[in-house]
Amino acid sequence: MSRFHHVRVLGIESSCDETGLAVYDSARGLLAHALHSQVAMHEAYGGVVPEIASRDHIRRVVPLAERVLAEAGLTLSDLDGIAYTQGPGLAGALLVGAAVANALGFALGKPVVGVHHLEGHLLSPLLAEPKPAFPFVALLVSGGHTQLFDVEGVGRYRLLGETQDDAAGEAFDKTAKLLGLSYPGGPALAQLAESGREGAVSLPRPMMDSGDLDMSFSGLKTAVLVLARRLAGDEMLKDADKADIAREFQHAVVDVLVAKALAALGVAACDRLVVAGGVGANRELRARLVKAVTRRGGEVFFPDLAFCTDNGAMIALAGALRLQERQFSDYEFTVRPRWDLTTGGA
Ligand code: KG4
Ligand code: ZN
Repeated sequence: MSRFHHVRVLGIESSCDETGLAVYDSARGLLAHALHSQVAMHEAYGGVVPEIASRDHIRRVVPLAERVLAEAGLTLSDLDGIAYTQGPGLAGALLVGAAVANALGFALGKPVVGVHHLEGHLLSPLLAEPKPAFPFVALLVSGGHTQLFDVEGVGRYRLLGETQDDAAGEAFDKTAKLLGLSYPGGPALAQLAESGREGAVSLPRPMMDSGDLDMSFSGLKTAVLVLARRLAGDEMLKDADKADIAREFQHAVVDVLVAKALAALGVAACDRLVVAGGVGANRELRARLVKAVTRRGGEVFFPDLAFCTDNGAMIALAGALRLQERQFSDYEFTVRPRWDLTTGGA
């Protein structure tokens, strides 16, 4: 089947608490992107409230689409297709992107591509320069997933290992909450870790020596709780103790992720590692991975910090790559709140 050579795609991300819009051009790269984060809105509740999220996506999506088109100097009729996050995510939030994408595609007579959110993250390092060549091993570390994939090409993903319980980002968020930091906890915890003392307290490195590529982070959170209680005694936990715990927690998570990523490169007999997802923004993780992978003669690729967390650019990019392979739906308008990337992910 012939391929579309040059495509311009509008991407819509609305799976959780950010509305992301972008225009990606397969020849020129990213033309424009815009993001509205709902973090401030959900902060009072300590987490994402699904119904509030859906309603806010409805308010944001059309103005943001107009903004990115204007920035790209394009009109709707210049687009070759519309891509949207079809899952996994919050059903109501996903439906907003799905409805807008399908309505636009139908009205314009243009193809619509339902993108897997994790595929967007996996391919997001292709938005940066230099781009990683296929095949590569991908470490996907987001709020909901911690997985290692062998990536042979677009749509060809083999799961090598994953967390058995909490995702790394979830562990950051829950531990931050235990330490009284505000939502979303990952970046706040990472910042607090900077002022902690190295080796002042100690936490386990779960499944470090399990001999496979699986991980576990929920025990770490419990270990933090026990440690915090011991240090606090009958008093409030001191700020200095919180910082020490944050430092050791981050160190433990990074130790496990680095060890598993290196082992995955060995299993896949590959020397290119791609890191994607929100926790990929973590500075210690980035530095330690670069050091460990370059020491064994390999290369590490990261998305720009802005494209580690959820965004429309990665959805527009994945949609463009799928569209070039002529993979699009017939305005099917279904969302997949739970969706496994390797089984029926194509
Ligand atoms: O990929 P993402 O935006 O959302 C999902 O698809 O899940 O990832 C969000 C996760 C949150 O758990 C957040 O706390 C974490 O990424 N995160 C970080 C950092 N920045 C974001 N975790 C550790 N260090 C960071 N600098
Ligand atoms: Zn995400």
